[in-house]
Amino acid sequence: MGELLASGDMKKTAQDHALRIALIVASVRQPRVADSLLAWLTEALAAVPWLDLEVIDLATVDLGAESSPIAGRLAAADAFLLLTPEYNHSFPGPLKIAIDRHLAEWAYKPVAFVGYGAGAGGARAVEQLRVVFPELRATTTREAVLLTAPWERLDECGRFLPDEGIEAALAGTMTELRWWAEALRARRDLDRVGAA
Ligand SMILES: Cc1cc2nc3c(=O)[nH]c(=O)nc-3n(C[C@H](O)[C@H](O)[C@H](O)COP(=O)(O)O)c2cc1C
Repeated sequence: MGELLASGDMKKTAQDHALRIALIVASVRQPRVADSLLAWLTEALAAVPWLDLEVIDLATVDLGAESSPIAGRLAAADAFLLLTPEYNHSFPGPLKIAIDRHLAEWAYKPVAFVGYGAGAGGARAVEQLRVVFPELRATTTREAVLLTAPWERLDECGRFLPDEGIEAALAGTMTELRWWAEALRARRDLDRVGAA
């Protein structure tokens, strides 16, 4: 994760306007591998100075409520990191409901993925999400983290143990997410100034 922490100018960015990254947890079942991966991601990203992480755990959200309980948090985010398993070659239904209940909240923002599953490492879920998000005017990063059988990488306490390749994939994904998030936030800011 050194790449995420390396640059000296990141401190200034963090103080002035850290990027708000919403980490969305798509699995709503219990028990779930998502908990180990969420703990890994929150720990790894807590030390990154250019971002503020907000976890939106769909297991704790009532998406059937009359008004969306997460609309405000999605709207405030500059970028999204989706932690999604693969179920039946796709992504979980509650994630689709969360996506479909919102519109402007996603627009002109980047979305990156940490996918996981059996043989394909969640790739089929992630590829389907790449088809969905442009309809909401969101863009997806090329880089992604795909974890094959992450349940085989848990220690006796359920702690996920990434190897160097996984850490590099996370660093590369976050670097690209940052690029898009900064560029698109600047462009959204211009729109706001123009509208004022
Ligand atoms: C209903 C269901 C369908 C699944 N289908 C797939 C699949 O198509 N491809 C795959 O790689 N893994 C599949 N899996 C395995 C899941 O990726 C694996 O159980 C993972 O741990 C689920 O994440 P979670 O425990 O955080 O919910 C499936 C699991 C479930 C429960």
